[in-house]
Amino acid sequence: MPDLYQHSIEVIMAHQAASGGYLASPTFADYRYCWFRDGAYTAYAMDLAGCHESAHRFHDWCARVVNRRQAAVERAIAKAKRGEALSESDYLHTRYTLDGHESDDETWPNFQLDGLGTWLWALVQHAQLAGLEALPLTWREATLLTARYLAALWQHPCFDCWEEFGDRVHPYTLATIYGGLRALTSLGLEGEWRSVPPLIRAHVLERGVHNGWLVKSIGNPAVDASLIGVATPYRLLAIDDPLMQATVTRIETELRREGGGVHRYATDTYYGGGEWVLLTAWLGWYYAEMGEIEKAREMLAWVEAQADAQGNLPEQVPRTLTAPRYLEIWRQQRGEIANPLLWSHAKYIILWHFLHLPGS
Ligand code: BGC
Repeated sequence: MPDLYQHSIEVIMAHQAASGGYLASPTFADYRYCWFRDGAYTAYAMDLAGCHESAHRFHDWCARVVNRRQAAVERAIAKAKRGEALSESDYLHTRYTLDGHESDDETWPNFQLDGLGTWLWALVQHAQLAGLEALPLTWREATLLTARYLAALWQHPCFDCWEEFGDRVHPYTLATIYGGLRALTSLGLEGEWRSVPPLIRAHVLERGVHNGWLVKSIGNPAVDASLIGVATPYRLLAIDDPLMQATVTRIETELRREGGGVHRYATDTYYGGGEWVLLTAWLGWYYAEMGEIEKAREMLAWVEAQADAQGNLPEQVPRTLTAPRYLEIWRQQRGEIANPLLWSHAKYIILWHFLHLPGS
């Protein structure tokens, strides 16, 4: 099998279009798009790997996508301020074709705010890691527009990072917006949106906590593995905050079985609800930040063991399942589990880096 780290970079490079967009997965028909969410984590991984040009081209793609929709975004902001309902044509979608067009495939919902928060955060990481002295003008325009959009809409229910439960507000989504806006603030950019992160934090602490842990969505006390993101990387909570630690313990207890990989949430039915590669790497990233190196290495080893003979990492592994009978149903409807999934490779690269920092 090829060296997984190097191969991961190659997989990502091979599936970045000339436009700069990254394909979520080349083999899975539904994923032949570029998502802000997947792409932003992928760009961050490429920055960590020193491939700044690749990350730069992705951020350029995002800025073009956003700037081209300036009129719709302004409309969304104005409507939100007036308390009016938004229509489908006002939203920034979560994914686009590689040449930056909206998809007409209705399989997945479009109104998801987390990818945009992640994008702002990843763009600022890029600026720092690649040593940019100033943001290109088009990036500045797009990030400020996105910041105003997120600041106007953050309280609206929207689909979560798994593209589900669109009638709810999700602490993970709020954390991405918090992290994205705070990152922009660190670049010294000005705007009314700067007052929003403390409001988001207060809201999560007031409404997003039940029995001493963070919840999947406001009003739903279940746990969801994406909540790792509240601390790693968005720092709405410190990594060692007791609330964060209790949440991670609950993720370990309820969403990870027999030392395997991490499930998304306990009632997941997508492809039977298998063990997700990117979530296992994400948990390892959290442990690496906590200095719990043995645990982080355990996650890295588990992820490495999921690579196929070509070195490709899938989205999920049907080893233990939360809803076994759905595996076949999804396979018949949509084909085999996406493999390779760029976001899985990206999270592997990120974990690898956090384990190879000086002192780890
Ligand atoms: C996942 C999303 C992801 C998309 C593309 C969906 O099934 O739930 O988180 O962005 O696939 O990888």
